[in-house]
Amino acid sequence: MREATMTSYIAGNARDLEFSDFDPFGDAFRRHPEKFHPMLLTQSPGFIHMEGVPSAYVAGFAQNQAMLRNFKAFSSLKPKNLPGMERIDFFNGLPVMNYADPPDHTRRRKVVNPAFTPKRTQMLNENAAILIDRLIDDIVERGKGFEALGDLTKPLSIDILLRRFLGIEDKDQAIFMNYVATLPLLDSMRPGDPKPQPYLDAWAQGAAYCKEQQALARQGRCHNLIGVIADGAEDGAIDDDEMMAMMIVLLIGGVSTVAGAAAASLMNLARHPDIAERVRQNPSLAGAVLEESMRLDPPVSLVMRFATDDTELGGKVIPKGMPVYAMLGVACHDPDIFPDPYRFDIDRPNGKDHLAFGYGMHTCIGNAITRNVVPLLLNKLLARMPDLRLADRDDAVQWDTSTPRARHIGKLYLEAR
Ligand code: HEM
Repeated sequence: MREATMTSYIAGNARDLEFSDFDPFGDAFRRHPEKFHPMLLTQSPGFIHMEGVPSAYVAGFAQNQAMLRNFKAFSSLKPKNLPGMERIDFFNGLPVMNYADPPDHTRRRKVVNPAFTPKRTQMLNENAAILIDRLIDDIVERGKGFEALGDLTKPLSIDILLRRFLGIEDKDQAIFMNYVATLPLLDSMRPGDPKPQPYLDAWAQGAAYCKEQQALARQGRCHNLIGVIADGAEDGAIDDDEMMAMMIVLLIGGVSTVAGAAAASLMNLARHPDIAERVRQNPSLAGAVLEESMRLDPPVSLVMRFATDDTELGGKVIPKGMPVYAMLGVACHDPDIFPDPYRFDIDRPNGKDHLAFGYGMHTCIGNAITRNVVPLLLNKLLARMPDLRLADRDDAVQWDTSTPRARHIGKLYLEAR
């Protein structure tokens, strides 16, 4: 397998560039990304130092599209030993499909395709419908107010993704939730720091589980997703490490992003009773609510690429070897593509063309699951609670800005009037 190597590339190539002090991982940007949008869009592509490493960011919509489709010039392979990369080494160095280019990426993505058959999608929808009804019953029984993430969107995404999609039994789910909970610890790592022990412990537990399941899969006795992937993989199509990486990326890709996107959609319905009423009258509009909510608050705000050659983008040259931050969240507010970009408008003709699921060959593999399950939730909740509103309290919407690559709602208090 091809591995990228770190060279002493940058000093020469980056000498004449103008650098700003923008920090895509900084607290100010996490808390109020919108305040940075005009500056980032004007300067894009811009140059910054991250952990002392000259880096670039790309903010404009068209520039992001051009970069994300050009995998030859902008690779997904993470260079080894590049300061700052420890913060995105979620998979403990394992060969994961997100951080791969063709042909490895194509091979890994092909192997996981059998997990996304119409039959499995149908099964997920049926289970989601049953669970949503049950969760809403519980909320209604308890009284009029509820906290949407704890009561609704998290239990839904955990059940649908962990239990139904991945097939992890209830007793083993904590292994993966612990692992997800330790990921923000990586964000505070400085170059050269050892990986935080709680992360390593959680990783070891997850790895042990995956190894055990792989052994069962080899005997044809594994009934979860590892078994499905193992069946789909022709002899040796992926090795054990790739299998484990696959399991973990499928797990962590979806749980909090789906819960976050569903919560953002509920927040927008609660804030816009007129739109909620339109959706109630015409349930097919629930999809547009999800798309517009994801555009306004993309759960994944940035992804990374690495320039393989001096490459022109937006009239500037990004030097060979430079890490590049694809600022998806900013691109989703590019007024050239989305006029009046901060307005919640479900009638945008291009509402589905946001970059919240990425773009190009790495476009989110779980987008269909999200696009099925979240509208189902919105329609079922509106049918039972037509007067959904934000709860009458100052902290009804609380953002979780604890991780820099993502911006989720942490708590959302709703009620039916
Ligand atoms: C609202 C929900 C979701 C959002 C916002 C989201 C976002 C993204 C983004 C932005 C990418 C592109 C990464 C890149 O270009 O480097 C991506 C890729 C990916 N997502 Fe999602 N995702 C969501 C749900 C899911 C779900 C439910 C799953 C699993 C069932 C999943 C699994 C993956 C995987 C495996 C990739 C890598 C695809 C590849 O490299 O070819 N995601 N996602």
